[in-house]
Amino acid sequence: MNITMIGTGYVGLVTGTCFAEKGFNVTCVDLNEDKINKLHNNIMPIYEPGLDKLVEKNVADNRLSFTTDLKSAVSKSDLVFICVGTPENKETGHADMKYVYGAAKEIGEALQGFTVIVDKSTVPVGTGDAVEKIIKETNPNADFAVASNPEFLREGSAISDFLNPDRVVVGTDNEKAKSMLANLYKWASDEGFSVMFTARRTAELIKYAANAFLAMKITYINEIADLCENVEANVEDVALGIGLDSRIGKKFLQAGPGYGGSCFPKDTMALVRTSEQFNSPIKLIQKTTELNEARKLNMVGKIKKAFNGDVKGKDIAILGLTFKANTDDMRESCSTVIIPELAKLGANIKAYDPQGMEEAKHLIKADITYCDSKEEALKNADGLVILTEWDEFKNLSVKEVTDLMKGNLFIDLRNLYDDKIMKQDSKIKYVSLGR
Ligand code: UGA
Repeated sequence: MNITMIGTGYVGLVTGTCFAEKGFNVTCVDLNEDKINKLHNNIMPIYEPGLDKLVEKNVADNRLSFTTDLKSAVSKSDLVFICVGTPENKETGHADMKYVYGAAKEIGEALQGFTVIVDKSTVPVGTGDAVEKIIKETNPNADFAVASNPEFLREGSAISDFLNPDRVVVGTDNEKAKSMLANLYKWASDEGFSVMFTARRTAELIKYAANAFLAMKITYINEIADLCENVEANVEDVALGIGLDSRIGKKFLQAGPGYGGSCFPKDTMALVRTSEQFNSPIKLIQKTTELNEARKLNMVGKIKKAFNGDVKGKDIAILGLTFKANTDDMRESCSTVIIPELAKLGANIKAYDPQGMEEAKHLIKADITYCDSKEEALKNADGLVILTEWDEFKNLSVKEVTDLMKGNLFIDLRNLYDDKIMKQDSKIKYVSLGR
């Protein structure tokens, strides 16, 4: 089968490359000529471990190519995946659908022979119906079906998530589309992964319901962490104690400074708006979004408290800027809230991140110093704050840190260190979450 991926963002590029790796012929299309030229030279538009190697291999094997020519790619394809962005409309909280609808129109103009258009972008319930309508209006004679196949990959581990999916969800009532998509995911069923077929609207909702549930789980453990601090309990033991119950599960119970990224904040908000629109408000998720926003600011209070109530004039080293490790993505990262607030309170910030510095310069609205290494950031600091769980921040030596810094405050907002060991070390004052 020939496959076209529309959009070479995170989802389109990673899944397109992985489909090629599974033996299909894949063409990735993007309007952005510069991006396509770079991909021709194996320069990735995003940082994702292992992606450059996989792209190089599949291009060399002639299964993966890149183009700006949507018409030609679509006309030769059996399956066309829509993988364009659905950013949050900041005024309404709804997902902005202009890229999806624009792609649908262009696909409609190019269709030849029976084609399945598969929506992989995260889209509100009913988008499949709207895409179908646009294509019918654009090209009344087109022979096509529209399906939904939501994506569950995590940034930073996207390739292994694709190759070892917890499940694959396909939403369509069209038998021909069903059999083509079953063929596309035959490797997954053969390897024992669940491939689930359902109605299109249900598939669309599964994606939002999954992301919102995970966001709620994180918010819950963050609130438990706060309670742990007040009752002198340990949040990690609580997380393990509840997570060992298979009905709850151990994953996504890591207390942190508030979730970020391009998905949870936008998708929770979009689910809230959809639920209101259809007169079934999901108040749990509404509250989750509010609590998560408040948490990022609460972290400033925590840092301030550790500095005895005042950060004015303090030199603070920030380690980690991206919303999580192994990505260069800065979108909705807690650093974009915490750092400007600390700067406003008069702190002097020196920051370092292994991959996110370029993006950070655009997204962090504060006058801070960007450093080339963690050592440079730590030099002469009164304290350090870990915001992202990069491997290189997991094994800092207390001696090296205290030799570099003039102060001794070690604030770990990812609980990367053993608190018992750290609290026994008289050279530092260690602060973490819920322990
Ligand atoms: C998330 C979902 O996990 C994916 O399944 C989904 O496909 C993706 O969104 C998407 O919709 O495209 P991602 O945003 O890459 O993936 O990152 P996550 O690993 O889910 O982390 C999101 C945020 O939650 C990060 O800020 C992370 O630090 C935080 N987090 C995660 C915690 O604070 N605690 C945890 O236990 C887990």
